[in-house]
Amino acid sequence: MRFLDACLRKPVDATPVWFMRQAGRYLPEYRAIRTKASFLEMCERPDIAAEVTMQPVRRMGVDAAILYADILLPVRPMGIKLEFVKGEGPVLTPPVRTPKDVARLRVFDAQDGLGFVMETVKLVRRELAGKVPLIGFAGAPFTVASYLVEGGPSKEYRWTKAMMRGEPVLWNALMTKISKVTVGYLQSQVKAGAQALQLFDSWVGVLSKEDYERSVKPHSVRVLAAMKRTGVPVITFGTGTSPFLESFAATPADVVGVDWHEPLDAAWKRVGLGRAVQGNMDPAYLFLPRPRLKDAVKAVLDKAAGRRGHIFNLGHGIMQHTPPENVRAVSDWVHEWTAR
Ligand code: CP3
Repeated sequence: MRFLDACLRKPVDATPVWFMRQAGRYLPEYRAIRTKASFLEMCERPDIAAEVTMQPVRRMGVDAAILYADILLPVRPMGIKLEFVKGEGPVLTPPVRTPKDVARLRVFDAQDGLGFVMETVKLVRRELAGKVPLIGFAGAPFTVASYLVEGGPSKEYRWTKAMMRGEPVLWNALMTKISKVTVGYLQSQVKAGAQALQLFDSWVGVLSKEDYERSVKPHSVRVLAAMKRTGVPVITFGTGTSPFLESFAATPADVVGVDWHEPLDAAWKRVGLGRAVQGNMDPAYLFLPRPRLKDAVKAVLDKAAGRRGHIFNLGHGIMQHTPPENVRAVSDWVHEWTAR
């Protein structure tokens, strides 16, 4: 299959394409279901989660499905209350800031704590019937830790950076617990049928290279190495990684996801031309008229230059209010222009 072959830098008949956040509120058929259930209820119902995983596969002609779930689902079986509040995003209570808070976090068995996700994986695999592969995922230790320590999204990461730099022993204990949970969760996804795995380090770009290498990278590398041992292709993704891309890429992952801050050819050189890369169109281009959108897609493909191991994607997730027809157009153009 195109997508899995590209992850391993094997020749493909056309460049594979999928979109981060390809399931979600920009799709009317998603919103129709969402009016009847909360986001967390949708995740917990394997029939619903499988259906919304399939929606973009049917409509967009993408080369991979990504499990409908969330990087924050594991915090609940760890013992933290999780809510999604309109206008605020995720709210986690209580925030994890003291040794007692960290000690209380449970390292749970994924099948017990998140069995509904594995049910969804099995259902999706059945519905996909081999047409395209299913990507499983989890949040990277830093990004998940930031939500736990801040208690939600943040602009400044005041508490997270304070713990990381001021209380390194506590920080490492927290990161170690999150990593254990994450590895077990991803292993279970593969057992259930996930055919590739992506680790989302969405907010790692708020760190300096020194912070990243000292306090975060060793944990991410351990998780990625365990992911590799499951035998499926592994993607590592971060945004804002340009200041330390060589270092971010130097992990056991097969594929490195890059955001739009650098042209793909420059980013690819820094990652290493011997690795597969995923990216990197700015999702904001999806709001532009067709001629400008076309240019943006062409620019990414020109920089990829037909090299083996390119997976077309955005630099970050599809935004709400994105016109679905534009997503379909991009998927078609990529296939048409790269067919060999
Ligand atoms: O990509 C996909 O289509 C697969 C599903 C997926 C979701 N979240 C579904 C979702 C994936 C891979 C994620 C990952 C995720 N979740 C990340 C990392 C990726 C990224 O975008 O950087 C992060 C940071 C989260 C945490 C999270 N979940 C946030 C910040 C939000 C938005 C909250 C809000 O109020 O808008 C969510 C909710 C969420 N996760 C939605 C979806 C489809 C929207 C839920 C809804 O209201 O219907």
